[in-house]
Amino acid sequence: MKDIQEIKFYSGEACPLEMHKVRIVQRLNLLPIEDRVKAVNGAGNNTFLLQNKDTYLDMLTDSGVNAMSDLQLSAMMVADDSYAGSATYERLEEKLTELFGTKYFLPAHQGRACEHIFAKAYIKDGDVIPMNYHFTTTKAHIGLQGGKVLELYYPEALEVDSDHPFKGNMSPERLLETIAEYGVDRIPFVRMEAGTNLIGGQPFSLANLKEVYAICKANKIPLILDASLLADNLYFIKVREAEYRDVGIREITREVADNTDIIYFSARKLGHARGGGICTSDHDAYMRLRDLVPLFEGFLTYGGMSVREIEAITVGMEETMDYYMINQGPEFIKYMVDELKKRGIPVITPAGGLGCHLDAMRFLPHLPQSEYPAGALGSALFIAGGIRGMERGTISEEREADGSEHYSNMELLRLALPRRVFTLSQVNYAIDRITWLYENRDLVGGLKFTEEPKVLRFFVGRLAPVSDWQEKLVAKFKADFGESL
Ligand code: F0G
Repeated sequence: MKDIQEIKFYSGEACPLEMHKVRIVQRLNLLPIEDRVKAVNGAGNNTFLLQNKDTYLDMLTDSGVNAMSDLQLSAMMVADDSYAGSATYERLEEKLTELFGTKYFLPAHQGRACEHIFAKAYIKDGDVIPMNYHFTTTKAHIGLQGGKVLELYYPEALEVDSDHPFKGNMSPERLLETIAEYGVDRIPFVRMEAGTNLIGGQPFSLANLKEVYAICKANKIPLILDASLLADNLYFIKVREAEYRDVGIREITREVADNTDIIYFSARKLGHARGGGICTSDHDAYMRLRDLVPLFEGFLTYGGMSVREIEAITVGMEETMDYYMINQGPEFIKYMVDELKKRGIPVITPAGGLGCHLDAMRFLPHLPQSEYPAGALGSALFIAGGIRGMERGTISEEREADGSEHYSNMELLRLALPRRVFTLSQVNYAIDRITWLYENRDLVGGLKFTEEPKVLRFFVGRLAPVSDWQEKLVAKFKADFGESL
């Protein structure tokens, strides 16, 4: 029996169909535009600093805000609360062993905590870490230990408008060249990121992972998988990689795991709860990482997580093996991307996981990167519709050692779709407001820093508009809509 079946529509006009019903809801606010401008400026034009009560659609992230299932919530009620030797921990460890085939599990309070532990255990000054693409927290932890990130993507990874199904692939040729150039002693591990976050939630193929793993093995370099966005990547392997079309998600998961040495994840994404951890079958690696967990995270049977969250992760991991659970995010995202594309609005294609990514470089071509087009677009979209996205461009980079700006390869505004949270009408509202903004894009101006932290400045940095463009945008909105909502 096939494990998935396409659901057909009599009208022929298919749209994403939810395989769940909503039974708990939360009231939302949509502020008048005058208050939205005040809110975004109160937040230093940084969407991280906005209050949720001022936000209509919170598309900042899918981290820790995915909808949980009835089974997850009920499992939380039977958690075994003890500092050491909790049965709750054992249940998660067993589930991960069942799904990944790994022997050991080290818990941590979230994804970056795993990265902190790796960086401390593995990286020495002058090391280089090859990867398909960096993530912000990963790069920061590697940098703090004196390591350097080398991104070995194919050119298509950075092509915004593409039909390449696996833009998250690593170039095996470039990996071989890197090993020849730096030598294995300076490469403590290779990192592959599932559902590559910063290039638009783009997957790697299993064929590519296998090729990369073979090179790592031949050179005795551990391959570490960042599985935070694994659910999306599993879905894409199944629907885009011909060889896996009729292979179950569970089998694909095991094959991914079999082609890595160490797996770490943010359970704020994978498993739809809050937490994280590291899985491996390598005893030496386990011993190397183990002692740091009680030091930085908490005892080995909770690692900084609440036992309730651990129970939710265990159930969430099992639910991730359900195609009709993991298809919801990518299919809603594809709907949004296709609708925006139809209207000529520049978005990352093909549609990835995580969210819909607007290409601010083409949306606002009149803005130089020094005025942070992706940040400006984030501020403008909040003003236009109370929609809170996340800048993934130059603001999310760190400055060079000499203080000069490091311009990002891409200037993206990420509109995350937390799984099973928004309805299709809310997605249609977002499409409508983005369309209005696109038609009025000439009004949008740039931003400048008024307060700039040295590390991970995108989290708490504050910016101001470089001109009175926001007032002009509000005036046009009121002229067009005749109202302020
Ligand atoms: N790796 C990836 C691929 C991630 O997307 C994230 C988090 C982390 C590691 C760090 O995990 O947040 O649990 O510490 N991404 C969030 C986001 C922050 O909004 O994309 P964490």
